[in-house]
Amino acid sequence: MPETDTEGARYQAEVPQPAPGFFLKGAHQLDWGMKNRLARVFSPQSGRTVMLAVDHGYFQGPTTGLERIDLNIVPLLPYCDALFCTRGILRSVIPAESPRPMVLRASGGPSILKELSDEQIAMDMEDAVRLNAAGVGIQVFIGGEFETRSIHNMTRLVDAGLRYGVPVMGVTAVGTNMVRDARYFRLACRIIAEMGAQYVKTYYVEEGFETVTASCPVPIVMAGGRKLPEIAALTMAWNAVQQGAAGVDMGRNIFQSDAPKAMIRAVHAVVHKNMKPAEALDLFHSLRAEG
Ligand code: 5RP
Repeated sequence: MPETDTEGARYQAEVPQPAPGFFLKGAHQLDWGMKNRLARVFSPQSGRTVMLAVDHGYFQGPTTGLERIDLNIVPLLPYCDALFCTRGILRSVIPAESPRPMVLRASGGPSILKELSDEQIAMDMEDAVRLNAAGVGIQVFIGGEFETRSIHNMTRLVDAGLRYGVPVMGVTAVGTNMVRDARYFRLACRIIAEMGAQYVKTYYVEEGFETVTASCPVPIVMAGGRKLPEIAALTMAWNAVQQGAAGVDMGRNIFQSDAPKAMIRAVHAVVHKNMKPAEALDLFHSLRAEG
């Protein structure tokens, strides 16, 4: 177990980590191709991103809201900064004319019927390059049954990504019976960054999220999680970016909303324009009324 932690002051969350010459934390010493791909996903103006996560089918099949990606998700493409999807959906459904950067799910194996941490690398980096991917994403199961393998999967993917200039997003995958607190996410995010991921996707926690972002030397994007009322999801996104996240990678809280286009635009305003949650909710309502 990690040493006993005293949360707060010693993480110095108010002091930004220097990144001389590049806008993204921890990325200033990377090669040109890697930086260029990161700058397609993260806005060089705001330093943040709104990624739309629609990769759920890789273990959940056609989950609610993703029954028809052609009908439900393709119309949202103009409003996201990047799409997080599988290569199967990319090749079969996403129009190649789309200028949006694509981040590809690169791990998989078990379905929801099995032990989820039993994953393998599920795509070759050469295929990610062939698909002009702006990055790849992989689950890391800290504390999970196949923890070591999932870290090894990620480090192999990072090695391949460094060879081709493709950034890797490590995703903190939390088992259902594990405690989701700042201490756990500091541990998981820091391991993922230390093992070489260029950015990390993780969940928001009410207490001490700024210590998670401060102690992670690369950008963190906030995962959405289960569907919440719009005001709660917008507040969570607001809190996350105000506490140091470099944006969001949200799925269900956007595509399971009864007005997904209005919701993604409201999230965009929170992330890139620092719009407060109540104002963003008003924006959501007025965009939904417009239809
Ligand atoms: C799980 C994942 C998912 O596949 C997905 O991206 C989650 O998105 P959301 O929770 O916002 O629906 O990465 O860790």
